[in-house]
Amino acid sequence: MLLEVRDLHVEFHTRDGVAKAVNGVDYSVDAGETLAVLGESGSGKSVTAQAVMGILDIPPGKITHGEILFQGQDLLKLKEEERRKIRGAKMAMVFQDALSSLNPVLSVGDQLGEMFQVHQGMSRKDSKAKAVELMDRVRIPAAKERVGQYPHQFSGGMRQRIMIAMALALEPELIIADEPTTALDVTVQAQVMDLLAELRRELNMGLILITHDLGVVADVADKIAVMYAGRIVEHAPVHEIYKAPAHPYTKGLLESIPRLDQKGQELYAIKGLPPNLLNIPPGCAFNPRCPLARDRCRTDVPPLYEVTESPVPRASACHFWKECLHG
Ligand SMILES: Nc1ncnc2c1ncn2[C@@H]1O[C@H](COP(=O)(O)OP(=O)(O)OP(=O)(O)O)[C@@H](O)[C@H]1O
Ligand SMILES: [Mg+2]
Repeated sequence: MLLEVRDLHVEFHTRDGVAKAVNGVDYSVDAGETLAVLGESGSGKSVTAQAVMGILDIPPGKITHGEILFQGQDLLKLKEEERRKIRGAKMAMVFQDALSSLNPVLSVGDQLGEMFQVHQGMSRKDSKAKAVELMDRVRIPAAKERVGQYPHQFSGGMRQRIMIAMALALEPELIIADEPTTALDVTVQAQVMDLLAELRRELNMGLILITHDLGVVADVADKIAVMYAGRIVEHAPVHEIYKAPAHPYTKGLLESIPRLDQKGQELYAIKGLPPNLLNIPPGCAFNPRCPLARDRCRTDVPPLYEVTESPVPRASACHFWKECLHG
C-alpha cells in the first residue's frame, strides 16, 4: 500500500477550548488509485491531508494519536528534515487557489524551473526546457511561447494546470488535491478533473481528491471516504455508494447533488449544521440531523460496520446501515 492512515487524531488548542478536528481516521490509497474524500466544510478533510503532508499548523494543531504509513514507513516518526525530503519529491499537494499559491512576480517558467534547480541542481537553461515539458504534459496550449508569461496572464483553469504541473515536477508517487477545482466554473472543473485522472493513470500515482461535491468524483475516483466531524462515516467503492449509500449522511449528500436533468427541482439539503468541534454530541455525531436517529444513536458511538468485504471493503458508521442501504 502506498499510503495508509491509521487511527489518526488531531486536535487544535484554541482560546475557546480543544477542537477535535480529526477523531480516528483510517484511509488508504495505492499506486494508480484515486481516493475521494468527501464531507461538508469543517469535517476534517484538509486537516487530515495536512497531517499526511506534514504541513499542519503545530501549534495550535497537535497529532495526538495514529500512524501515517507511506510506503510502509511511519511519517510521524521521522525528523522534520527527513519529511522535507519526502514533501515535493515523493508526495505533493495541489491547492484550491492557484492565484495565491503562485508567485505573481515570477514567470510560470521560472517557478516551474525552480523546482528542478533547487531539488536537482539543474541549470537554468535545462530547467526551462523541463518547464515547457511540464506545461505540455498538463496540456497548456503553446507552452513554448507561454513559458515566460506571468500567472495573471493565464485563465483560472490554466493556472490550476500550472499548479498541477508544479506538483508533478518531481514525479511524486502521491498527489493530494484539496478542492482543486472549486474556484473554477463547471466545464473547466470537469477538464481539470479529467486531466488529474489521466495523469494519475499515466504516471501510476496515488491520488487523494478532496472535495465537498459528490457530483465531480463519480467518473474519476475508485473509492470514496465520507467524513463527518472528523471521522469516516462511510467508505466504499465509488459506484456502490451512488447506487445505494449505507449511511444517512451520504444519502443526504447524494440527494443534494444538482441534477442537470431535473432543472428547477428543489435540492434536498441536509438540515441543521455540522457539530461544534469543541463539543461533539455524544453517540453518533450526526444524530441531531439524522432522519433515522433513535435512542441508541444518542448514546453509542457507532463503529465502522463492515458492509461488504470485497473487492474494496465497504463500511458504514451507522447502527442502522442495513435500513439505510435497503430503505
Ligand atoms: N489552524 C487552525 N486553528 C484552529 N482550528 C483549526 C485550524 N485548522 C483547522 N481547524 C479546525 O479543524 C476543523 C476541520 O478543518 P478542515 O480544514 O480539515 O475542514 P475541511 O473538511 O477541509 O473543510 P472545508 O471543506 O471548508 O475545506 C475546522 O472546523 C476547525 O475547527
Ligand atoms: Mg478543506
